[in-house]
This record gives sequence, C-alpha cells and structure tokens, in this order.
Amino acid sequence: MTKLWGGRFDGKNEAWIDAFGASISFDQALAKQDILGSLAHVKMLGETGILTPEESTLISNGLTNLQKKLANNELTFTIENEDIHLNIEKMLHDEIGPIAGKLHTARSRNDQVATDMHLYLKEEVSAIIEKIKHFRSVLVAKAEEHIETLVPGYTHLQHAQPISFGHHLMAYYHMLTRDYERFNESLKRIDLSPLGSAALAGTTFPIDRELTANELGFSGIYANSLDAVSDRDFILEFLSNSSLLMMHLSRFCEELILWCSYEYQFVELTDTFSTGSSIMPQKKNPDMAELIRGKTGRVYGNLFGLLTIMKGLPLAYNKDLQEDKEGMFDTVATVSASLEIMAGMIDTMTVKNDNMQASTQKDFSNATELADYLANKGLPFRQAHEIVGKLVLQCTQNGNYLQDIPLSDYQAVSPLIEADIYEVLDARQAVIRRNSAGGTSFEQVRLQITQAKQSL
Ligand code: ARG
Repeated sequence: MTKLWGGRFDGKNEAWIDAFGASISFDQALAKQDILGSLAHVKMLGETGILTPEESTLISNGLTNLQKKLANNELTFTIENEDIHLNIEKMLHDEIGPIAGKLHTARSRNDQVATDMHLYLKEEVSAIIEKIKHFRSVLVAKAEEHIETLVPGYTHLQHAQPISFGHHLMAYYHMLTRDYERFNESLKRIDLSPLGSAALAGTTFPIDRELTANELGFSGIYANSLDAVSDRDFILEFLSNSSLLMMHLSRFCEELILWCSYEYQFVELTDTFSTGSSIMPQKKNPDMAELIRGKTGRVYGNLFGLLTIMKGLPLAYNKDLQEDKEGMFDTVATVSASLEIMAGMIDTMTVKNDNMQASTQKDFSNATELADYLANKGLPFRQAHEIVGKLVLQCTQNGNYLQDIPLSDYQAVSPLIEADIYEVLDARQAVIRRNSAGGTSFEQVRLQITQAKQSL
C-alpha cells in the first residue's frame, strides 16, 4: 500500500515494521480533536486565500461528514495508515477525492499532533478539576458531621494527641484544594495553540495562527514554532500534578484500609466499595482503596516514563515523542476513576464514632496535657516533660493511665498538680483547648469548614 509520505521511497513496506511504528491503536482516542483541528485549519486556509473558498468548503464538508461518522462509530482505523492524522486524511480522501490533499497545506503532523493533545488535555483536565471539586465538597460535608467526633491523632503511627475526626478529614480537603489549584493553574499553559508551527520552522504560507487558535477556543498561541512542536512539558505538568494528587489519595486509602481492619474498626465501607474472598467467607476487603493506592504507582511510572523520554531529545520533533500518549491516556483514566471512587467511598462510609472515641480514652495521648498544665504553672517545659514521662513509665508498669493516678500521688510528685487535673486530662477537653489558628479545637474546625464552604 502506498504511504501518504511514500514519494521518496521505493523499497517495500513490511507489515511488522509498520506495526511497530504505528500509533493508531491508541491515538485514535484523539480522532475528535484531530478533526476539529483540521476544521479550524481549513477554515483559516480559506479565509487567508491560501485555498479558494470553494476548496475550503469542500474539505470542510468532508471533515464534517467524518465528524458525524465518528460520532456514530462508523470510522474504521487501520495500521497501514499509521496514526490518527494519516487515517483521517485517508478517510477524507475517500470522502471527497484528491482535493483532500490540500488540507495539509502549511501544516505538519508535528504541529497537528501537539494541537490534538492540547485540545484533549484541556478538556480532560477541566473534567478532572470538577471531579476534585466534588470530592472536596464530599470531604467538607463528612467533616461537618464529625467536628465533635474524637479520634486518636498519630505520629509514627503511635497515639499522639486526640483530635477531631472532622479536622483529620479537613486535612485531606486542604491537600485536595492545592491539587485543585495546581490543575487550574496548569490550564493556562495547556490552553495554547501550537497549530501553524508546521514541521518546526513555521511556514512560507500567509497563515493566521490567531484565527485557528480562536476557532479552537485556545486563549493564545505558542510564540516559538520550535518550542511548540518539541516540548511536552504541558503533559509532564499534568502527570506531575496527577502524581501529587494520587499521592494524596493513596495516603488517604492507606488510612481507610487501616481503619477498616479488625484492630481499628473506625470505619466501615459500603458493600459497593468492598469485595469478598473466594475462600474466607467472613472477608470484606477494601479492594477499591487498595487499588487506588496501587494505581498511584502506575501514575508515577507514567511521569517517569515521559521525563525519561524527554531528557535526551534534541530539538525539534523526534519519533520518541509518539511515546507521550499512552501514559497520558492511562493517567486521565486512572485519576478520573480514582476521584469518583474516593468521593463515593467517603460519602457512603459508616464512621464508628464510639470506637474512635473509645480509642482516645485508654491511652497516653493526654500526656502532653499534663506537661502543658505544669508548664502553665511556671515549671520549665523540659522539667514538666521529664516528670510526666516518669509518671507514664509508672503507669505502664502498674497497668493504668494518667487519669487513674490518685491526687495524693500526683501531689507527692508535684504540689503544682491540683484537683482540676482530671478535667485537663479529658480527651474532649484536650481537643477543645487546642484553639490556636488551624488547630483541632471544635471552634477552629468549624471555622475551617465555614471557609471551605465559601470557597467551594
Ligand atoms: N504519530 C505521531 C506522533 O504521535 C505524529 C507525528 C508524526 N510526525 C512525524 N514527523 N513523523 O508523534
């Protein structure tokens, strides 16, 4: 079969080599964008007089037919036509005859493919932004239900200080808000048109790049044709933002998995987001959370794959760049699904308030309260720390807790300790007292939630 670029070749094609070089198996996902780009390009060719109005209309109509066929799933792509651009051009040829060959005037596949991907990512990133926003609103709603639910706060996965479960959920809200901002900010760099850069150097034809950019809804054009066809930093930025987002989701999933375990029993996920075991009848596994944690690895892989592809490439286009697509598509699918699953999982999970609360009672997470109490009464904090540490050691030997120590024993250790100590040691009071800005007190968490609701 003759290639669209076959003029200077007289050797024969080998199907297995063609298959290795082809990208149509995956870049057919860009068919819609490819036709849109061609529609804008041919309109511009007509308006600038590069093609006659009749030629432009004829090609335009052919492309519109292809658009309809695509929508009805009537297009069949072939490996012989290598990639989405050549497939569409060949189909246009079948549709309107040799005049189709004028479409590629003043254009190269190099600016064409970059344009397709900018259009694609602009749409997908906008959809991802909306999904993050929805998940943020789910988090705020859950947090609001649990402002006064106590849960152990951990460091080193050891009970540290009791906190509000709403505060814990709001921590993720804020991480997701930064993800939201990062994706939003990246849009201004995705929203640029490479079209008209041609192969690398621009073109001798009197094209109008602003016109095509406008037509495609881009807010500007790349200022340098070489840059426009060479760089994939807009995809890398997407993969990098996605990696950060997935890292946040993955940490959250890790916590959900722990919280579902028999040892914690802090939450229960609905059946929809859980699966059973083929051998152990009692099992209810948090598979979806585990999968999101697992899929974070492939998103990182996609980022590192493309970073590695890019690092040694001389300007301008190199075929290596064809490898930029599968990781991008895969990441879009992974991030979109993960966000939807997270939102559903958190929205429907049962929080076992009593278990969380109970877990803050029989522990030493009130040790800081006692140290702060002594420091408040003038004892240097380091000394207070030492005294409380000794008391904790005694308790662990006696099998009891700070709140079980009789007042007389406390006063034997330090006359500064008075009867009000038992209220101070209470977990709920400990949370309420942490009223510094951004702290876990109910008042501060309420404030965070009010502000979050305003910004959503
Ligand atoms: N399929 C190619 C890609 O995805 C399109 C660009 C081809 N350009 C070229 N000069 N061979 O990168």
